[in-house]
Amino acid sequence: METVLVVGSTGNIGTAAVKGALNAGYKVLAIVRNSTSANKLFQNAGKEGITTVEADIMSDNGIQSVVEQVTAGKLPAFQHVYSTVGGLYEETALKNVTAKQMRDAMNQNFTPNLYAYIATIPYLLEQNNPSSTWTLCTGAQGDYGFRAVPAMTAGSLFSMAVSACRELHETNIRFNEVYLAFRVEIDSSAEKSASMKASDFAKNYQAILGNTSVRGCRVRVTNHEEVTKLNYAPKLDL
Ligand SMILES: NC(=O)c1ccc[n+]([C@@H]2O[C@H](COP(=O)([O-])OP(=O)(O)OC[C@H]3O[C@@H](n4cnc5c(N)ncnc54)[C@H](OP(=O)(O)O)[C@@H]3O)[C@@H](O)[C@H]2O)c1
Repeated sequence: METVLVVGSTGNIGTAAVKGALNAGYKVLAIVRNSTSANKLFQNAGKEGITTVEADIMSDNGIQSVVEQVTAGKLPAFQHVYSTVGGLYEETALKNVTAKQMRDAMNQNFTPNLYAYIATIPYLLEQNNPSSTWTLCTGAQGDYGFRAVPAMTAGSLFSMAVSACRELHETNIRFNEVYLAFRVEIDSSAEKSASMKASDFAKNYQAILGNTSVRGCRVRVTNHEEVTKLNYAPKLDL
């Protein structure tokens, strides 16, 4: 049975990715900040099929240390990655943004996703499993610009996805960007806020895992129908 490494596993989208992977018959290796975060994930996704590992995803060797434990046989091997660290969604007007705010936002919303890529891609290339996938969640805020800081960090993720599509073209790794344009929350919060439930958004990852023609693409999820009826197009003309 194949395993998905989920980075940002305890958040709204991470919980959806964990549930989607489990529903599709995969096991999950979930990186968590600490035991409190692990318990949050277990409450929202159950325990069955999930192995957790604590790591500091904000440091440049945190996710690398997880891969080293996998390589040493101390943690399950993985063939797929879903990266969705972020969550900083502040409203400061662009003209008032400070350098520190922007650095902090990049540190939370962008850099750990890049660390996840840098740490896991050499491992997945080395394994050379023909069905490997790597999925990055971004947000339409990067095009809307209502919230300047998260818009700019989303823009960086768009560019990371473009570079990844180019770099992984014709490798064993099927890279895709999930471009999400509405709010998804863990089920208990979604019930109060009328957002989509993580357990419903889980079907999106399930659909991506199951459709090998989605490769090097932006998967646009701009309405509820597109969660399962995938709307995808290549990010680059390669
Ligand atoms: N939710 C949506 O509707 C939506 C829509 C469009 C795009 N997105 C994008 O999806 C990504 C995730 O959003 P989300 O709503 O799932 O965010 P979230 O619920 O806040 O989850 C963020 C994840 O990152 C982790 N994290 C954040 N700061 C951390 C830190 N300093 N150290 C360790 N872990 C840290 C959190 O861990 P803890 O649980 O331990 O805090 C959690 O696993 C973002 O890039 C966002 O822009 C989300």
